[in-house]
Amino acid sequence: MGSGLLILNGPNLNMLGRRQPEIYGRETLSDIESACKLHGAELGLSVDFRQTNSEGELVGWIQEAAGVADAVIINAGAYTHTSVALFDALLLLDMPIIEVHLSNIYRRESFRHRSYVSGAATGVICGLGSRGYLLAMDAVAAMLAEDRQRPEDRQ
Ligand code: DQA
Repeated sequence: MGSGLLILNGPNLNMLGRRQPEIYGRETLSDIESACKLHGAELGLSVDFRQTNSEGELVGWIQEAAGVADAVIINAGAYTHTSVALFDALLLLDMPIIEVHLSNIYRRESFRHRSYVSGAATGVICGLGSRGYLLAMDAVAAMLAEDRQRPEDRQ
């Protein structure tokens, strides 16, 4: 059986395609979801892809991932820069967590330079557009495969 990957998207990412395309590109979130599902099939990862505008719902989904998902990829949108609650929830998870941003948050306004998610993430990918999601999936697949080979190395 393949591993289960939860891909979480936060506020305003449902507006991709129409939202500041010069920054975020013309792809819609549904385009990104399709690409992730296709890539998941190639990697042997089942993909549960979700979006919400609600911080509480994101926290709930992260709590539910414990013991169910094998890894989480998260683009928390603007909550990245504000949410201690998301940081605390992510700390509950003993699994790879990859933070993704379409844009390079370090090249933008200074309020985007702080990420609460990074403090709980295994790794961060930003500035590579939707390709970042696929690269995060490659990283997760490699980590889970390594983990299966060397279970004694798990932290
Ligand atoms: C974003 C970057 C955030 O600063 C912003 O609030 C978003 C999208 C990105 O994917 O580049 O909503 O997470």
